[in-house]
Amino acid sequence: MKILVVGSGGREHALVWKLASSPRVSQLYCAPGNAGISQLATCVSVPATDLAGLKAFAEDNAVDLTVVGPEAPLALGIADLFRENKLKVFGPTRNAAKIESSKSFAKNLMMRQRIPTAEARVFESVRPALDYLERCALPIVVKADGLAQGKGVVVARTAQVAKDAVISMLEHRTFGDAGTRVMIEECLEGEELTLMAFADGKTVAPMLAAQDHKRLGEGDTGPNTGGMGAYAPAPLATPALRYAIMRDVLHPAIEGLSRVGSPFFGVLYAGLMVKDGTPYVLEFNARFGDPETQVVLPLLKTDLADVLEAVVEHQLDQIHLEWFEESAVCVVMASGGYPGKYAQDLPITGLRDVSGRDRVAVFHAGTAWNGPDVVTAGGRVLGVTAWGPSLRAAHDRAYEAGRRISFEGQYFRTDIAGRVLT
Ligand code: AMP
Ligand code: GLY
Repeated sequence: MKILVVGSGGREHALVWKLASSPRVSQLYCAPGNAGISQLATCVSVPATDLAGLKAFAEDNAVDLTVVGPEAPLALGIADLFRENKLKVFGPTRNAAKIESSKSFAKNLMMRQRIPTAEARVFESVRPALDYLERCALPIVVKADGLAQGKGVVVARTAQVAKDAVISMLEHRTFGDAGTRVMIEECLEGEELTLMAFADGKTVAPMLAAQDHKRLGEGDTGPNTGGMGAYAPAPLATPALRYAIMRDVLHPAIEGLSRVGSPFFGVLYAGLMVKDGTPYVLEFNARFGDPETQVVLPLLKTDLADVLEAVVEHQLDQIHLEWFEESAVCVVMASGGYPGKYAQDLPITGLRDVSGRDRVAVFHAGTAWNGPDVVTAGGRVLGVTAWGPSLRAAHDRAYEAGRRISFEGQYFRTDIAGRVLT
Protein backbone atom coordinates (compact mmCIF):
# COMPACT_ATOMS: atom_id res chain seq x y z
CA MET A 1 0.00 0.00 0.00
CA LYS A 2 1.30 3.46 -0.92
CA ILE A 3 0.22 6.14 1.53
CA LEU A 4 0.49 9.92 1.34
CA VAL A 5 0.24 11.85 4.62
CA VAL A 6 -0.64 15.54 4.26
CA GLY A 7 0.86 17.99 6.77
CA SER A 8 4.13 18.91 8.41
CA GLY A 9 3.79 18.81 12.19
CA GLY A 10 4.18 16.49 15.15
CA ARG A 11 0.83 14.87 14.48
CA GLU A 12 1.88 13.98 10.94
CA HIS A 13 5.22 12.66 12.17
CA ALA A 14 3.34 10.40 14.59
CA LEU A 15 1.04 9.22 11.78
CA VAL A 16 3.98 8.49 9.48
CA TRP A 17 5.89 6.76 12.31
CA LYS A 18 2.94 4.51 13.11
CA LEU A 19 2.23 3.71 9.46
CA ALA A 20 5.91 2.93 8.89
CA SER A 21 5.53 0.02 11.31
CA SER A 22 2.73 -1.55 9.26
CA PRO A 23 3.75 -4.54 7.15
CA ARG A 24 1.07 -3.49 4.67
CA VAL A 25 2.66 -0.15 3.86
CA SER A 26 5.22 -0.37 1.05
CA GLN A 27 5.78 3.31 0.39
CA LEU A 28 5.19 6.42 2.49
CA TYR A 29 5.06 9.99 1.21
CA CYS A 30 4.49 13.14 3.21
CA ALA A 31 3.56 16.56 1.81
CA PRO A 32 5.34 18.69 2.80
CA GLY A 33 6.74 16.92 5.90
CA ASN A 34 9.71 18.02 8.00
CA ALA A 35 13.23 16.87 8.89
CA GLY A 36 12.05 14.11 11.23
CA ILE A 37 9.43 12.84 8.84
CA SER A 38 12.00 12.69 6.02
CA GLN A 39 13.76 9.88 7.88
CA LEU A 40 10.69 7.65 7.48
CA ALA A 41 8.91 8.93 4.38
CA THR A 42 9.69 10.59 1.08
CA CYS A 43 8.89 14.25 1.60
CA VAL A 44 7.25 16.02 -1.31
CA SER A 45 7.37 19.80 -1.47
CA VAL A 46 3.67 20.38 -2.03
CA PRO A 47 1.99 22.59 0.59
CA ALA A 48 -0.89 21.02 2.55
CA THR A 49 -3.34 23.53 1.09
CA ASP A 50 -2.36 23.01 -2.58
CA LEU A 51 -5.25 20.66 -3.32
CA ALA A 52 -4.60 20.46 -7.06
CA GLY A 53 -0.91 19.72 -6.44
CA LEU A 54 -1.74 16.98 -3.94
CA LYS A 55 -4.28 15.41 -6.27
CA ALA A 56 -1.78 15.43 -9.15
CA PHE A 57 0.86 13.85 -6.91
CA ALA A 58 -1.52 11.13 -5.72
CA GLU A 59 -2.52 10.33 -9.31
CA ASP A 60 0.99 10.41 -10.76
CA ASN A 61 2.36 8.17 -8.01
CA ALA A 62 -0.56 5.74 -7.79
CA VAL A 63 -1.10 6.55 -4.13
CA ASP A 64 -3.56 4.08 -2.58
CA LEU A 65 -4.62 6.23 0.36
CA THR A 66 -4.14 9.87 1.33
CA VAL A 67 -4.37 10.72 5.05
CA VAL A 68 -5.09 14.36 5.86
CA GLY A 69 -3.55 15.73 9.06
CA PRO A 70 -4.48 19.42 9.39
CA GLU A 71 -7.87 21.14 9.24
CA ALA A 72 -7.12 23.69 6.52
CA PRO A 73 -7.15 21.30 3.53
CA LEU A 74 -10.28 19.60 4.90
CA ALA A 75 -12.07 22.95 5.15
CA LEU A 76 -10.97 23.68 1.57
CA GLY A 77 -12.54 20.43 0.38
CA ILE A 78 -9.60 18.08 -0.20
CA ALA A 79 -11.75 15.04 0.59
CA ASP A 80 -14.43 16.15 -1.89
CA LEU A 81 -11.86 16.71 -4.64
CA PHE A 82 -10.17 13.35 -4.06
CA ARG A 83 -13.45 11.43 -3.94
CA GLU A 84 -14.69 13.09 -7.13
CA ASN A 85 -11.51 11.81 -8.77
CA LYS A 86 -11.80 8.30 -7.37
CA LEU A 87 -8.84 8.76 -5.05
CA LYS A 88 -9.11 7.21 -1.59
CA VAL A 89 -8.79 9.77 1.16
CA PHE A 90 -9.00 9.61 4.93
CA GLY A 91 -10.80 12.72 6.15
CA PRO A 92 -14.27 14.29 6.08
CA THR A 93 -15.82 16.30 3.25
CA ARG A 94 -15.86 20.07 3.42
CA ASN A 95 -19.46 20.07 4.65
CA ALA A 96 -18.82 17.50 7.38
CA ALA A 97 -15.63 19.35 8.40
CA LYS A 98 -17.78 22.38 9.18
CA ILE A 99 -18.17 20.80 12.60
CA GLU A 100 -14.69 22.28 13.13
CA SER A 101 -14.46 25.09 10.58
CA SER A 102 -17.63 26.88 11.73
CA LYS A 103 -18.31 27.14 15.44
CA SER A 104 -21.87 28.34 14.77
CA PHE A 105 -22.51 25.30 12.55
CA ALA A 106 -21.22 23.06 15.34
CA LYS A 107 -23.28 24.85 17.98
CA ASN A 108 -26.47 24.50 15.92
CA LEU A 109 -25.77 20.81 15.42
CA MET A 110 -25.26 20.38 19.17
CA MET A 111 -28.51 22.18 19.92
CA ARG A 112 -30.46 20.02 17.46
CA GLN A 113 -28.89 16.83 18.78
CA ARG A 114 -29.15 17.88 22.44
CA ILE A 115 -25.42 17.48 22.96
CA PRO A 116 -24.37 19.06 26.26
CA THR A 117 -22.42 22.26 25.62
CA ALA A 118 -22.10 25.84 26.81
CA GLU A 119 -24.89 28.27 25.98
CA ALA A 120 -23.91 30.63 23.22
CA ARG A 121 -25.10 33.43 20.94
CA VAL A 122 -23.71 34.32 17.53
CA PHE A 123 -23.18 37.91 16.31
CA GLU A 124 -22.18 39.46 13.02
CA SER A 125 -21.98 43.09 14.08
CA VAL A 126 -20.29 44.88 16.95
CA ARG A 127 -23.15 46.84 18.55
CA PRO A 128 -25.52 43.97 19.39
CA ALA A 129 -22.53 41.88 20.54
CA LEU A 130 -21.40 44.60 22.96
CA ASP A 131 -24.98 45.10 24.19
CA TYR A 132 -25.26 41.40 24.86
CA LEU A 133 -21.94 41.42 26.73
CA GLU A 134 -23.36 44.06 29.11
CA ARG A 135 -25.84 41.45 30.30
CA CYS A 136 -23.41 38.54 30.58
CA ALA A 137 -21.82 37.27 33.75
CA LEU A 138 -18.02 37.01 33.90
CA PRO A 139 -15.88 35.20 32.95
CA ILE A 140 -17.22 34.94 29.40
CA VAL A 141 -15.76 33.30 26.29
CA VAL A 142 -15.47 35.05 22.90
CA LYS A 143 -14.75 32.87 19.87
CA ALA A 144 -14.10 33.62 16.23
CA ASP A 145 -16.48 31.47 14.17
CA GLY A 146 -13.94 30.16 11.67
CA LEU A 147 -10.51 28.55 11.72
CA ALA A 148 -7.93 30.62 13.60
CA GLN A 149 -5.19 28.09 14.34
CA GLY A 150 -6.33 27.67 17.93
CA LYS A 151 -5.92 31.38 18.61
CA GLY A 152 -9.50 32.49 18.06
CA VAL A 153 -10.72 31.84 21.61
CA VAL A 154 -10.56 34.44 24.38
CA VAL A 155 -11.58 33.46 27.89
CA ALA A 156 -12.32 36.94 29.26
CA ARG A 157 -12.21 37.55 33.01
CA THR A 158 -13.07 41.24 32.63
CA ALA A 159 -15.68 43.05 30.55
CA GLN A 160 -12.95 45.08 28.86
CA VAL A 161 -11.09 41.99 27.63
CA ALA A 162 -14.36 40.58 26.23
CA LYS A 163 -15.21 43.86 24.47
CA ASP A 164 -11.72 44.17 23.03
CA ALA A 165 -11.95 40.63 21.69
CA VAL A 166 -15.29 41.32 19.98
CA ILE A 167 -14.00 44.55 18.43
CA SER A 168 -10.75 43.03 17.28
CA MET A 169 -12.53 40.08 15.65
CA LEU A 170 -15.56 41.81 14.10
CA GLU A 171 -14.16 45.25 13.38
CA HIS A 172 -10.40 44.90 12.97
CA ARG A 173 -10.73 41.44 11.43
CA THR A 174 -7.74 40.10 13.35
CA PHE A 175 -8.61 36.63 12.10
CA GLY A 176 -9.72 37.73 8.65
CA ASP A 177 -12.85 35.98 7.40
CA ALA A 178 -12.74 33.58 10.33
CA GLY A 179 -14.01 36.51 12.37
CA THR A 180 -16.97 37.66 10.28
CA ARG A 181 -19.03 36.04 13.01
CA VAL A 182 -18.26 35.73 16.70
CA MET A 183 -19.76 33.46 19.25
CA ILE A 184 -20.16 34.64 22.83
CA GLU A 185 -20.26 31.62 25.05
CA GLU A 186 -20.87 30.83 28.69
CA CYS A 187 -17.65 29.92 30.50
CA LEU A 188 -17.58 26.33 31.70
CA GLU A 189 -15.54 25.12 34.59
CA GLY A 190 -14.16 21.67 35.17
CA GLU A 191 -11.42 19.50 33.75
CA GLU A 192 -10.59 19.32 30.06
CA LEU A 193 -10.44 16.04 28.21
CA THR A 194 -9.98 14.96 24.60
CA LEU A 195 -11.70 11.93 23.16
CA MET A 196 -11.01 11.19 19.51
CA ALA A 197 -12.90 8.55 17.57
CA PHE A 198 -12.64 6.96 14.15
CA ALA A 199 -15.93 7.23 12.28
CA ASP A 200 -17.08 5.86 8.93
CA GLY A 201 -20.50 7.50 8.85
CA LYS A 202 -22.13 4.72 10.89
CA THR A 203 -19.68 3.07 13.26
CA VAL A 204 -17.86 5.12 15.89
CA ALA A 205 -14.68 3.64 17.39
CA PRO A 206 -13.22 5.68 20.25
CA MET A 207 -9.50 5.92 20.96
CA LEU A 208 -7.89 6.34 24.36
CA ALA A 209 -8.78 9.59 26.09
CA ALA A 210 -6.00 12.15 26.38
CA GLN A 211 -5.30 15.44 28.05
CA ASP A 212 -3.64 18.33 26.26
CA HIS A 213 -1.85 21.23 28.00
CA LYS A 214 -2.88 24.26 25.97
CA ARG A 215 -1.44 27.03 28.12
CA LEU A 216 2.14 28.13 27.73
CA GLY A 217 3.04 28.39 31.41
CA GLU A 218 3.49 25.99 34.30
CA GLY A 219 0.28 25.26 36.21
CA ASP A 220 -1.85 26.13 33.15
CA THR A 221 -1.08 29.83 33.13
CA GLY A 222 -0.24 32.28 30.35
CA PRO A 223 -1.48 32.40 26.75
CA ASN A 224 -3.06 29.54 24.82
CA THR A 225 -0.76 27.69 22.44
CA GLY A 226 -1.16 24.89 19.91
CA GLY A 227 -0.44 22.51 22.84
CA MET A 228 2.61 22.21 25.09
CA GLY A 229 2.25 18.53 25.88
CA ALA A 230 -0.17 15.71 26.42
CA TYR A 231 -0.64 12.37 28.09
CA ALA A 232 -2.82 9.30 27.61
CA PRO A 233 -4.81 7.50 28.79
CA ALA A 234 -6.31 10.16 31.04
CA PRO A 235 -7.39 8.62 34.36
CA LEU A 236 -10.30 11.09 34.37
CA ALA A 237 -11.89 9.05 31.57
CA THR A 238 -13.41 6.22 33.57
CA PRO A 239 -15.40 3.60 31.64
CA ALA A 240 -18.60 5.34 32.81
CA LEU A 241 -17.43 8.70 31.49
CA ARG A 242 -16.31 7.19 28.17
CA TYR A 243 -19.73 5.59 27.86
CA ALA A 244 -21.44 8.93 28.55
CA ILE A 245 -19.27 10.68 25.94
CA MET A 246 -20.13 8.05 23.33
CA ARG A 247 -23.86 8.15 24.11
CA ASP A 248 -24.31 11.90 24.65
CA VAL A 249 -21.66 13.41 22.38
CA LEU A 250 -20.03 11.28 19.67
CA HIS A 251 -22.99 9.20 18.50
CA PRO A 252 -25.41 12.15 18.40
CA ALA A 253 -22.84 14.27 16.52
CA ILE A 254 -22.25 11.58 13.88
CA GLU A 255 -26.00 10.98 13.54
CA GLY A 256 -26.65 14.71 13.26
CA LEU A 257 -24.15 15.08 10.43
CA SER A 258 -25.65 12.13 8.55
CA ARG A 259 -29.08 13.61 9.02
CA VAL A 260 -28.09 16.84 7.25
CA GLY A 261 -26.58 14.87 4.38
CA SER A 262 -22.95 15.24 5.49
CA PRO A 263 -21.88 11.85 6.86
CA PHE A 264 -18.55 12.03 8.68
CA PHE A 265 -15.61 9.85 7.60
CA GLY A 266 -12.37 10.29 9.48
CA VAL A 267 -11.45 11.23 13.03
CA LEU A 268 -13.94 13.18 15.09
CA TYR A 269 -12.24 14.96 17.98
CA ALA A 270 -14.33 15.98 20.98
CA GLY A 271 -12.74 18.65 23.16
CA LEU A 272 -14.65 18.41 26.42
CA MET A 273 -15.01 20.07 29.78
CA VAL A 274 -15.93 17.52 32.42
CA LYS A 275 -17.93 18.85 35.33
CA ASP A 276 -19.29 16.59 38.06
CA GLY A 277 -18.90 13.59 35.78
CA THR A 278 -20.82 15.20 32.88
CA PRO A 279 -19.02 15.95 29.60
CA TYR A 280 -19.75 19.30 27.92
CA VAL A 281 -18.40 19.99 24.43
CA LEU A 282 -15.98 22.93 24.09
CA GLU A 283 -15.22 22.20 20.46
CA PHE A 284 -15.21 19.54 17.82
CA ASN A 285 -12.32 19.01 15.46
CA ALA A 286 -12.59 17.11 12.21
CA ARG A 287 -9.14 15.49 12.44
CA PHE A 288 -6.53 13.99 14.73
CA GLY A 289 -5.50 16.30 17.61
CA ASP A 290 -2.04 17.72 17.98
CA PRO A 291 -0.32 16.82 20.33
CA GLU A 292 -2.88 14.20 21.45
CA THR A 293 -2.06 11.99 18.47
CA GLN A 294 1.56 11.80 19.62
CA VAL A 295 0.48 10.05 22.84
CA VAL A 296 -2.42 8.01 21.52
CA LEU A 297 -0.84 6.35 18.48
CA PRO A 298 2.15 4.81 20.32
CA LEU A 299 -0.39 2.95 22.47
CA LEU A 300 -2.38 1.58 19.50
CA LYS A 301 -1.75 -2.12 19.00
CA THR A 302 -3.97 -2.52 15.92
CA ASP A 303 -2.37 -1.83 12.53
CA LEU A 304 -3.24 1.80 11.77
CA ALA A 305 -3.31 1.15 8.01
CA ASP A 306 -6.11 -1.40 8.59
CA VAL A 307 -8.09 1.10 10.63
CA LEU A 308 -7.72 3.94 8.14
CA GLU A 309 -8.66 1.68 5.26
CA ALA A 310 -11.70 0.35 7.13
CA VAL A 311 -12.92 3.92 7.63
CA VAL A 312 -12.50 4.73 3.94
CA GLU A 313 -14.25 1.47 2.92
CA HIS A 314 -17.07 2.03 5.45
CA GLN A 315 -16.18 -1.21 7.19
CA LEU A 316 -15.14 0.11 10.56
CA ASP A 317 -17.55 -2.36 12.17
CA GLN A 318 -15.04 -5.07 11.11
CA ILE A 319 -12.25 -3.55 13.23
CA HIS A 320 -11.64 -4.11 16.90
CA LEU A 321 -9.23 -1.48 18.21
CA GLU A 322 -6.65 -2.90 20.58
CA TRP A 323 -4.39 -0.89 22.87
CA PHE A 324 -1.23 -1.55 24.82
CA GLU A 325 -1.89 -1.32 28.53
CA GLU A 326 0.66 1.44 28.95
CA SER A 327 0.73 5.20 29.32
CA ALA A 328 2.38 7.84 27.15
CA VAL A 329 3.60 11.38 27.78
CA CYS A 330 4.63 13.97 25.19
CA VAL A 331 6.60 17.06 26.17
CA VAL A 332 6.69 19.80 23.55
CA MET A 333 9.95 21.69 23.15
CA ALA A 334 9.17 25.13 21.76
CA SER A 335 11.18 28.05 20.44
CA GLY A 336 11.77 30.89 22.92
CA GLY A 337 9.12 33.56 22.36
CA TYR A 338 6.44 31.16 21.09
CA PRO A 339 3.43 31.70 20.70
CA GLY A 340 4.72 35.19 19.82
CA LYS A 341 7.77 35.89 17.68
CA TYR A 342 10.65 33.43 17.75
CA ALA A 343 13.93 32.76 15.99
CA GLN A 344 14.37 29.96 13.44
CA ASP A 345 17.22 28.00 11.83
CA LEU A 346 18.83 27.22 15.17
CA PRO A 347 20.76 23.94 15.24
CA ILE A 348 19.32 21.19 17.43
CA THR A 349 21.76 18.92 19.26
CA GLY A 350 21.25 15.57 20.97
CA LEU A 351 18.74 14.03 18.57
CA ARG A 352 21.07 11.21 17.65
CA ASP A 353 21.69 10.50 21.30
CA VAL A 354 18.04 9.60 21.93
CA SER A 355 17.20 8.01 18.58
CA GLY A 356 16.60 4.29 18.77
CA ARG A 357 15.84 4.32 22.49
CA ASP A 358 13.25 1.82 23.61
CA ARG A 359 9.75 3.35 23.91
CA VAL A 360 10.90 6.87 23.11
CA ALA A 361 10.00 8.77 19.95
CA VAL A 362 10.94 12.36 19.20
CA PHE A 363 8.21 13.66 16.91
CA HIS A 364 9.32 16.69 14.93
CA ALA A 365 6.83 19.56 14.77
CA GLY A 366 8.84 22.41 13.28
CA THR A 367 12.23 21.31 11.96
CA ALA A 368 14.14 21.44 8.69
CA TRP A 369 17.47 20.31 7.28
CA ASN A 370 20.31 22.76 6.94
CA GLY A 371 22.93 20.68 5.17
CA PRO A 372 23.60 17.77 7.50
CA ASP A 373 22.07 19.54 10.52
CA VAL A 374 18.52 19.54 11.84
CA VAL A 375 17.46 23.10 12.67
CA THR A 376 14.41 24.71 14.22
CA ALA A 377 11.72 25.84 11.77
CA GLY A 378 8.63 26.61 13.84
CA GLY A 379 7.18 27.65 17.18
CA ARG A 380 6.65 24.14 18.40
CA VAL A 381 9.82 22.30 17.44
CA LEU A 382 9.73 18.79 18.91
CA GLY A 383 7.37 16.54 20.86
CA VAL A 384 9.52 14.29 23.01
CA THR A 385 7.33 11.27 23.64
CA ALA A 386 7.84 8.21 25.82
CA TRP A 387 5.65 5.38 27.01
CA GLY A 388 5.84 2.72 29.65
CA PRO A 389 3.94 0.67 32.20
CA SER A 390 2.80 3.73 34.18
CA LEU A 391 2.27 7.42 33.63
CA ARG A 392 5.14 8.04 36.03
CA ALA A 393 7.48 5.83 34.01
CA ALA A 394 6.45 7.49 30.75
CA HIS A 395 6.86 10.94 32.28
CA ASP A 396 10.32 10.24 33.63
CA ARG A 397 11.53 8.72 30.36
CA ALA A 398 10.19 11.63 28.30
CA TYR A 399 11.88 14.23 30.49
CA GLU A 400 15.07 12.21 30.65
CA ALA A 401 15.22 12.07 26.85
CA GLY A 402 14.27 15.74 26.56
CA ARG A 403 17.19 16.74 28.75
CA ARG A 404 19.61 15.37 26.15
CA ILE A 405 18.22 17.53 23.37
CA SER A 406 18.88 21.23 23.15
CA PHE A 407 18.69 24.32 20.99
CA GLU A 408 19.16 27.97 21.78
CA GLY A 409 16.21 29.54 23.57
CA GLN A 410 14.34 26.25 23.99
CA TYR A 411 11.30 26.26 26.24
CA PHE A 412 9.23 23.42 27.64
CA ARG A 413 6.84 22.97 30.53
CA THR A 414 8.15 20.85 33.38
CA ASP A 415 4.69 19.87 34.63
CA ILE A 416 3.21 17.80 31.80
CA ALA A 417 0.94 15.17 33.40
CA GLY A 418 1.93 16.75 36.72
CA ARG A 419 -1.58 17.07 38.06
CA VAL A 420 -2.35 13.36 37.80
CA LEU A 421 1.06 12.36 39.13
CA THR A 422 0.84 14.30 42.38
P1 AMP B 1 -11.31 25.69 21.66
O1 AMP B 1 -10.39 26.08 20.53
O2 AMP B 1 -12.76 25.96 21.41
O3 AMP B 1 -11.01 24.34 22.23
O4 AMP B 1 -10.87 26.65 22.86
C1 AMP B 1 -9.55 26.71 23.31
C2 AMP B 1 -9.54 26.64 24.80
O5 AMP B 1 -10.32 27.69 25.36
C3 AMP B 1 -10.16 25.37 25.36
O6 AMP B 1 -9.25 24.32 25.38
C4 AMP B 1 -10.55 25.82 26.74
O7 AMP B 1 -9.43 25.82 27.59
C5 AMP B 1 -10.98 27.23 26.52
N1 AMP B 1 -12.44 27.29 26.31
C6 AMP B 1 -13.11 27.24 25.13
N2 AMP B 1 -14.44 27.34 25.33
C7 AMP B 1 -14.61 27.45 26.65
C8 AMP B 1 -15.77 27.57 27.49
N3 AMP B 1 -17.01 27.64 26.99
N4 AMP B 1 -15.57 27.64 28.82
C9 AMP B 1 -14.34 27.60 29.34
N5 AMP B 1 -13.21 27.50 28.62
C10 AMP B 1 -13.33 27.41 27.29
N1 GLY C 1 -4.88 19.75 20.72
C1 GLY C 1 -5.81 20.63 20.17
C2 GLY C 1 -6.07 20.45 18.75
O1 GLY C 1 -5.58 19.55 18.11
O2 GLY C 1 -6.83 21.24 18.20
